[in-house]
Amino acid sequence: MKKKIIICLIPIACFIYFLPEINQQARGGSLRVIPKPSMTLHLSPNSSSCDCEDESVLYQNVPTDQLDDIIKRRKKEYKGYQLRMKTNVSILLAPANSPLQYPISGFIVTPQQKSVIPGLALHTQKRKLYKVTLRVDSGVLAVKDAPDEKEVNGQDESELTITSTNLTQLNNLLSRVTYTSTIYHIRTSDLVHFSFEDNKATFPVLIRRPSVPVLYNSVNDINSLVTITTKTFLRYKQLHVLLKSIRRVYPKIKIIIADDSLKPESVSGDNIEQYIMPPAQGWFAGRNLAVSQVTTKYFLWVDDDFEFLNETRIESFVEIMEAVPELDVLGGVVSGEQFYYTLEYVEGDEGGCLKRIQGGYHSPLPGHDGCFFVDVVVNYFLARTDAVRRVGFDPFLNRVAHTEFFIDGLGQLLVVSCKDLSIGHQTHEEQKEYDPYRNQRKDEEQRKLAHHFFKNYLKCIKY
Ligand SMILES: *[C@@H]1O[C@H](CO)[C@@H](O)[C@H](O)[C@H]1NC(C)=O
Ligand SMILES: *[C@@H]1O[C@H](CO)[C@@H](O)[C@H](O)[C@H]1NC(C)=O
Ligand SMILES: *[C@@H]1O[C@H](CO)[C@@H](O)[C@H](O)[C@H]1NC(C)=O
Ligand SMILES: *[C@@H]1O[C@H](CO)[C@@H](O)[C@H](O)[C@H]1NC(C)=O
Repeated sequence: MKKKIIICLIPIACFIYFLPEINQQARGGSLRVIPKPSMTLHLSPNSSSCDCEDESVLYQNVPTDQLDDIIKRRKKEYKGYQLRMKTNVSILLAPANSPLQYPISGFIVTPQQKSVIPGLALHTQKRKLYKVTLRVDSGVLAVKDAPDEKEVNGQDESELTITSTNLTQLNNLLSRVTYTSTIYHIRTSDLVHFSFEDNKATFPVLIRRPSVPVLYNSVNDINSLVTITTKTFLRYKQLHVLLKSIRRVYPKIKIIIADDSLKPESVSGDNIEQYIMPPAQGWFAGRNLAVSQVTTKYFLWVDDDFEFLNETRIESFVEIMEAVPELDVLGGVVSGEQFYYTLEYVEGDEGGCLKRIQGGYHSPLPGHDGCFFVDVVVNYFLARTDAVRRVGFDPFLNRVAHTEFFIDGLGQLLVVSCKDLSIGHQTHEEQKEYDPYRNQRKDEEQRKLAHHFFKNYLKCIKY
């Protein structure tokens, strides 16, 4: 089994941390004195770097005469990635004792559509005249059904001023203020700056194009929920043992085989699909092909030399996935071995640092004994088809590769490992023809390191 789990590399995937950041700020407690007018801090402009631990594998494995050029191009691509993924997030500080009421977070609008800003109000003592100003960066503001030009200034502009001698009336107008984004973007944000006399507050508007759901219409039957996928290469004997063991327990379930053997042999049977690929196309190319053909909500990944046991029950995986719909990947146990890892990733301007920790987990999965949140699981897992397709298996990786998929999926896939879901591993003699393809040659390893240096913007990994 050890051989299977193979060492591999890669990272990233950041999400939008707008809401958590702001909540953290609100919960933070410790007060800092800050100059009143600046309510926005930008996190990323400061340079950051990470340290590689002893015995880390270094990625900078490219010929020195190309290094400068590669680093330059890598930096450019990384900038684009940061823009797309919006890791550049502002920290907003809530003003102390503010008379201004506004939505701290959670105000989400559709691009270029008018939406009322919920919760705007002014709470203050009596004045002769009340005047508030709202300003945005990439949109326009207005008061819906504005009654009187005198009180509202800047209708459909980026800065709106409301004045009134009557606080009730002012609040009535504030409750009808709308925001409309003027730039088209499917996933971005704007800031609203709200002020009254010396009091200033800033809050975010999340601009999101709603997406259409993609659902799987499956009846409550294992054959309509799960497809078994595998990839084979020169191991028909093992593959047939696997197929027979599956059919003993699951006579009807669909099985998809991606086959890049040198001399393909036809494998047929009821509800078995064999996809022949160009010879030795590789491990991840095969996984991609197999998963691309799945039409069920879930697929179960098995290696071609696994064997279903009496206790191998796909239903147990499905039960957990259905009970916790946020899960994307659920790993089991192969031949009594429950390998799992966590990944520690620290970003850095000159490349990130990654550390893989065997046996590490984040926390137990509530309500399911023996299940833990992790980052990497064994080659025996049930996965949500659409979630895995979004991450994909990098077809560049044609020999050993496994952790790489989970590195690419970090922050995108919610992964769990459970100890009671087991499958067997066939014992087999060494195969002379197969092994040269399994074992990575030195030059291939170098090529792979250079690949991850660029692709994942990494400096090093520690196993
Ligand atoms: C950036 O670094 C400087 C110096 O270390 C520090 O004073 C400043 O507060 C940092 N800015 C941010 C936004 O973290
Ligand atoms: C991050 O935000 C700051 C301040 O708005 C901006 O100057 C910088 O270019 C942004 N960086 C990226 C990568 O978006
Ligand atoms: C303020 O306006 C509200 C609603 O328009 C009205 O009911 C109230 O009498 C006004 N107050 C004064 C002091 O004019
Ligand atoms: C699996 O189950 C079958 C039928 O119940 C039984 O004959 C066989 O011995 C079992 N195998 C093992 C390894 O327990």
